[in-house]
Amino acid sequence: MRFSDDFLAELRSRTDIEELIGRYVEIRHRGSRTPVALCPFHSEKTPSFVIYRDTQSYYCFGCGAGGDAITFIKNIERLDYTDSVRFLCERAGLAMPLDPVDDEINRLRRRCYEANREAARFFHAYLYSPEAQQARAYLDKRRLAPETVKSFGLGFAPAKWDALIKHLKEKGYNEAELVSFDLAKRTSKGSVIDAFRNRLMFPIIDLRGNVIAFGGRVLDDSKPKYLNTSDTVVYKKSQALYALNFAKNNRERKLILCEGYMDVIAMHQAGFTNAVAGLGTAFTKEQVSLLSRYCDELTLCFDSDEAGKKATKRALSMLSSSPMKLKVMHLQDGKDPDEIIKTQGKEKMNKIISSAVNDTEFALNDSRSRFDISTEDGKLGFLNEAVAVLAAVENAIERDLYVSKLAEELNVQKSAIEQQIKKQRRFMKKAHDSAQFDAAMKTVLGDDKISSPNPEKKSNVRAVKAEEVILASLLKHPDYLKKLKGILEADVFVTEFGRRYFEDISSRIQSGRSLDLVSFNEDAENEEMAYLAYLNAKISELANSVEECKQCINTLIEEKAKKNAPDVGKLSNEEYRDLFRKKREKKKPEGV
Ligand code: CTP
Ligand code: MN
Repeated sequence: MRFSDDFLAELRSRTDIEELIGRYVEIRHRGSRTPVALCPFHSEKTPSFVIYRDTQSYYCFGCGAGGDAITFIKNIERLDYTDSVRFLCERAGLAMPLDPVDDEINRLRRRCYEANREAARFFHAYLYSPEAQQARAYLDKRRLAPETVKSFGLGFAPAKWDALIKHLKEKGYNEAELVSFDLAKRTSKGSVIDAFRNRLMFPIIDLRGNVIAFGGRVLDDSKPKYLNTSDTVVYKKSQALYALNFAKNNRERKLILCEGYMDVIAMHQAGFTNAVAGLGTAFTKEQVSLLSRYCDELTLCFDSDEAGKKATKRALSMLSSSPMKLKVMHLQDGKDPDEIIKTQGKEKMNKIISSAVNDTEFALNDSRSRFDISTEDGKLGFLNEAVAVLAAVENAIERDLYVSKLAEELNVQKSAIEQQIKKQRRFMKKAHDSAQFDAAMKTVLGDDKISSPNPEKKSNVRAVKAEEVILASLLKHPDYLKKLKGILEADVFVTEFGRRYFEDISSRIQSGRSLDLVSFNEDAENEEMAYLAYLNAKISELANSVEECKQCINTLIEEKAKKNAPDVGKLSNEEYRDLFRKKREKKKPEGV
């Protein structure tokens, strides 16, 4: 639901973020200086969660959570945007606007859901047509039962250029819509063709039963194996999970996270109806929070190859601050669950599931596999890593259990391992506390060394700093956009990240919309809100002058030139001459 800027401004003025957050965590420096608290979104012992009264925002320098009152409620109460607004309205004694504002986006979303559903029906029906004989044979070969095919709504996209387009046009959709829903693609010549052709189709369904996207698999070994709907008005692949619509109903609140569509389907068919999968992207924070709404124990079930191991480690680190209990399956002699079920049966799969190990054991096993522990050196190497792993285990009884096992396995004194762990824990605590304390103090004192959420920062430190000054200045002084007209353009930005925010902020300024965090909230994801909160946090460090921005623009121009400069050593003679030719041409005055 969309709310007017006026309404949001009213809600903001009636909500005091310090008071709101104070209901969930204990705030230090309440009512005086800059309020800080222990972050409720990750576990810490020294506060790095800072509240900004002037912008009514918060930012955690420990985990990067940030935003305004709505973001806070969304995350702490696990509500969606509209319900968070409702929640705040009730607290503030403000009436919720009655009718949803039926704006263009809502209409487009509805159209997109309907077109997707129609497309899913079309693909499914076509699967039973004479032309789809091959697709049916393929499903047979993959051992998918007719009921499975039905319940997952699988289908087949005709091997024609515009079969779906024709069908949907008859139903009243136009080309522009179909392209924007990613059901059709525009060719370089300007005509449109079906986005999915000659592929087995997997509809992706959200928790309310809407068809939000598709995955399409080839029937042979050609590439790419899968095509997926790109992000649309109703679909963000980083926020969805395949088959969560089925899996969420399991009472035990245990889920299994697999890698692919076919794995999930094979698992469900074999009776493991709590399996879900990501959608061809690396596992994201949004997916973690989605999962934790339906799940207390998550078992990772990635392939046993190197890539799968890497994905497992990455996912575990993403999940480290979630309250879910974590387990990792070990898939031997089989590539993926689908294959294991097919070749070794569901009993075997069941065994594998019940022998999944927890995250600590996974880390120990992984470390052990990298050393030859029959040698003294190997033993020592493994022991060192194991100490680091065990030092991070918070539960003392659990820790003791592992230490006992380890002592026995390596035939060393238990007390020696314990001592090492103790030392490590003391060291970690110190490092942890001081890092967090530093982070919090830096913001309070306005130091510039605070870390940025911009993923491109590492290789563009200078540019990112300059970009942040410009963006933060614009948030505080929207009139700078006019004052810098002609020199401040989207092109000036070096990082994709910076450019995106510039475009968003400047289009808001141009259309006269509010720059309060509260008015970004409807369209922004948690991470974007956190970044805006971070920029707000930065404002206190700035000189806040047009001059400062101009300097930053110059910095960006310099940085960009550096980036674009060709590596002269790698050029051919021809290209080398061209380079000079171009330079000379540039110097000529216009019109000559
Ligand atoms: N994937 C993708 N694009 C590709 C390859 C893979 O989007 N070109 C995604 C799909 O979501 C796929 C998942 O990554 O389901 C895992 O890939 P893979 O293990 O190769 O596919 P499977 O699901 O095992 O498919 P199959 O068994 O049919 O080969
Ligand atoms: Mn597979």
